Amino acid sequence: MPDSRNPDLPPPGPGQSVETAGSAASGAGAHRPWWADAVVYEVYPRSFADADGDGEGDLAGVRAKLPYLEALGVDAIWVAPWFPSPMADGGYDVSDYRDIDPRYGTLEDATTLIAEAGERGIRTIIDMVANHTSDQHPWFQAALAAPEGSPERARYLFLEGKGPDGSEPPNNWISAFGGPAWSRTTNPDGSPGQWYMHMFAPEQPDLNWDNEQVQQDFDDILRFWFDRGVDGIRVDAAPAFFKTPGYPDADYGGDLRFLAAAWVGNPHWDVDEVHGILKRWRRVGDEYDGDRVFVAEAVVNGAERLGLYLARDEMHTAFNFEFLKASWDPGLRRIIDDTLEVLAPVGSPPTWVLGSHDETRLATRYGRARTGALHLSDGQGSPTDLRLGTRRLRAAALLMLALPGGAYIYQGDELGLPDVEDIPDHLLQDPMWLRSGHTIRGRDGCRVPVPWSGDAPPFGFSPDGAATEPWLPQPAAWAGLTVEAQDADPDSVLWLHRHALRLRRENAGFHTEAFSWRDSAPEVLDFERGPGLRCVLNLSGAPVELGTDWDVLLSSVPLEAGALPHDATAWLKARPS
Ligand code: NOJ
Repeated sequence: MPDSRNPDLPPPGPGQSVETAGSAASGAGAHRPWWADAVVYEVYPRSFADADGDGEGDLAGVRAKLPYLEALGVDAIWVAPWFPSPMADGGYDVSDYRDIDPRYGTLEDATTLIAEAGERGIRTIIDMVANHTSDQHPWFQAALAAPEGSPERARYLFLEGKGPDGSEPPNNWISAFGGPAWSRTTNPDGSPGQWYMHMFAPEQPDLNWDNEQVQQDFDDILRFWFDRGVDGIRVDAAPAFFKTPGYPDADYGGDLRFLAAAWVGNPHWDVDEVHGILKRWRRVGDEYDGDRVFVAEAVVNGAERLGLYLARDEMHTAFNFEFLKASWDPGLRRIIDDTLEVLAPVGSPPTWVLGSHDETRLATRYGRARTGALHLSDGQGSPTDLRLGTRRLRAAALLMLALPGGAYIYQGDELGLPDVEDIPDHLLQDPMWLRSGHTIRGRDGCRVPVPWSGDAPPFGFSPDGAATEPWLPQPAAWAGLTVEAQDADPDSVLWLHRHALRLRRENAGFHTEAFSWRDSAPEVLDFERGPGLRCVLNLSGAPVELGTDWDVLLSSVPLEAGALPHDATAWLKARPS
């Protein structure tokens, strides 16, 4: 596919080209792929826009909102899984990798969406969930029906249980959603059978990536989607693909929570052999022209382990979870430094991200006493100051969008939506809720359908008069947060994002690798992106003087007597002398 989109993105200036994992060339004039500094918008299709009025979003809804996304100024969309799915884990349980879930539309709708987005300069990244399938996938159903030791079972991880009657799981591995990572099967005659492994819910059996058939099938599935014009693949749960042979017990240090970022030498997470699989995927992507991108979802222990996923022949980029989960404090400086330091030698641009369909919404998290989030349940139910949280998310957005590399915005974060913490228990759908024995409410609070217009639910998410209510209830208080309401308010979070994305496109300094800290107090993050383009984040309690030689391009809140107040970010341009 010709690389002709985003015509209004300024090209890198002389000597500003970057060498990246996607570019074999180096030095001045090297090719700079689109994803090196793209702003990608995550669409969670079930909650984005419902065109047919069934209370769930669909691809016709996404198509209808392409003008909104174009006006927002994003370079690409990442669409969370759109494949047929029984929805045991919000679409991350796939029962057919070569089709679209009927609730979202058809394969033709998907190819039309990809084409229409492309016409507006918006690329499409899809979400490949390949560590596991749905238990309803024909491969798993065939495996259950086949005898032990069969090729059908060899696609998955079936093992004998421990103990004299095999009634104990094969090892002590835990699932990300709580409880053991093993479930026992029942033989056709009703007797208990082998156990199968699932890193997530029991409805999500893990594939055996040591199996050549599995590898070949996914080569073809990747080609299927590249042939349909997708520009990139998000690789779901990348560190989970390979398990240490022999399946030894894991040492969790006594903490049986799924804290992947803290694990070292874990036998079912971030095992080195995973890289062979990802390199194979890269080879498939490299069969296609047009700068296709692989972005790894890889929560691992520190930037150094993450750097391994970004070898030149592996993933192009990876989400920066350390940044996403960080507390709102001056420690952000260290995370930025670590990220840049580790990624520079591997030649991969950083990928900054603050929210997703898996995380507590920022307005809520940043308004709590504890602003970091290592585990999803951190801070659950604690008091939130939404005014402060919103102020901070505005500042965080300008920080993220000023850093070198790419950035991801989760749908609704450009509106400053808070988490919905009072969804009635009986409506919660996240498997975490059930698997944690109803102690962790899970991720539904950040997946509530987007409010587009009007002053009452469904806020334009579904068409007027739709018979079915949105699949998760929207709070009445969202009337002031709709796109329509924010469009009419020049000070809204939406307009802040629109202005930031426009300025990011217009200022060539944002499209280079240039980054240098300026002298400042430790609580102030003050850096330049090339000469004359500066970003200041004030995490101190006191106002910060910005100097007289700078014009303000944009600030997250108004300056006070020329100074930057607390919990605020400003973008500055050197005043011509
Ligand atoms: C990461 C996805 O973002 C999350 O939503 C999902 O539950 C797990 N991977 C399992 O696929």
